[in-house]
Amino acid sequence: MEKRTVMVYIVITLLVFSFAVISGFSQEDVSTIQDSAFKEKMRPPVRFLHDEHNETALIEECNTCHHVYEEGEKAEDESSEDMECSECHALDDGKNPMSLVKIYHVRCKRCHQEKKAGPVMCGECHVK
Ligand code: HEC
Ligand code: HEC
Ligand code: HEC
Ligand code: HEC
Repeated sequence: MEKRTVMVYIVITLLVFSFAVISGFSQEDVSTIQDSAFKEKMRPPVRFLHDEHNETALIEECNTCHHVYEEGEKAEDESSEDMECSECHALDDGKNPMSLVKIYHVRCKRCHQEKKAGPVMCGECHVK
């Protein structure tokens, strides 16, 4: 009987622990965007409550933001949420028409402008 109780406690502890580990890596914790490519920031971090934002904004497809391209076309059924935007989009190297800052601004602001909802002013996204 005692042995079984101990086993039950061990199993419960393991379950709780693995849940904590899994949720620790989930996007639910994302509350600001901090692309590691920006070493020295000129603006305050961008407020972005990932899951909450996407639910209220009614965005269903992850690849609205986490996209993948194949032969110049956006691949409809694929997504890249395991990657940072900067893994594909370089910081401004002077040659790229779409620098890393630009692609973030296009992605975020264009939709807000189209939907007439969500922030478009610098200080509304880069919140002190
Ligand atoms: C409105 C745009 C947008 C949508 C839609 C979106 N994401 Fe994200 N997501 C982001 C941004 C921006 C980041 C931070 C990017 C970075 O780290 O380069 C991010 C980060 C993540 C991360 C990494 C979290 C971390 O801890 O670093 C995961 C995982 C993720 N998203 C999963 C998803 C999934 C799954 C969906 C669909 C259910 C989704 N995202 C939809 C914009 C979006
Ligand atoms: C796996 C590589 C990859 C990742 C990761 C990626 N992109 Fe892209 N993205 C591309 C490619 C390829 C293009 C098309 C070629 C181009 O214009 O550079 C593109 C184009 C774009 C464009 C212009 C076309 C459009 O859809 O409006 C924007 C904006 C953009 N990406 C934003 C983002 C953002 C924001 C993230 C991170 C959430 C991201 N990308 C992550 C590869 C990627
Ligand atoms: C496909 C459309 C779309 C994209 C892409 C998008 N948004 Fe939004 N966003 C919305 C809509 C719609 C709202 C208003 C939602 C509501 O009714 O509160 C919103 C609201 C917001 C708000 C205010 C509400 C809040 O959660 O505090 C912030 C901040 C925001 N967006 C940041 C971002 C950032 C940063 C990005 C780029 C990574 C982004 N959004 C990309 C559609 C979008
Ligand atoms: C809709 C939201 C949004 C608006 C509005 C916005 N930005 Fe951003 N901006 C972003 C996101 C998202 C990033 C990527 C942040 C990161 O990864 O740290 C970014 C990155 C930047 C960066 C590079 C990182 C840094 O801090 O050095 C600069 C500079 C910047 N923005 C300036 C501006 C200026 C100036 C304005 C107003 C003209 C503005 N932004 C408006 C969302 C926004």
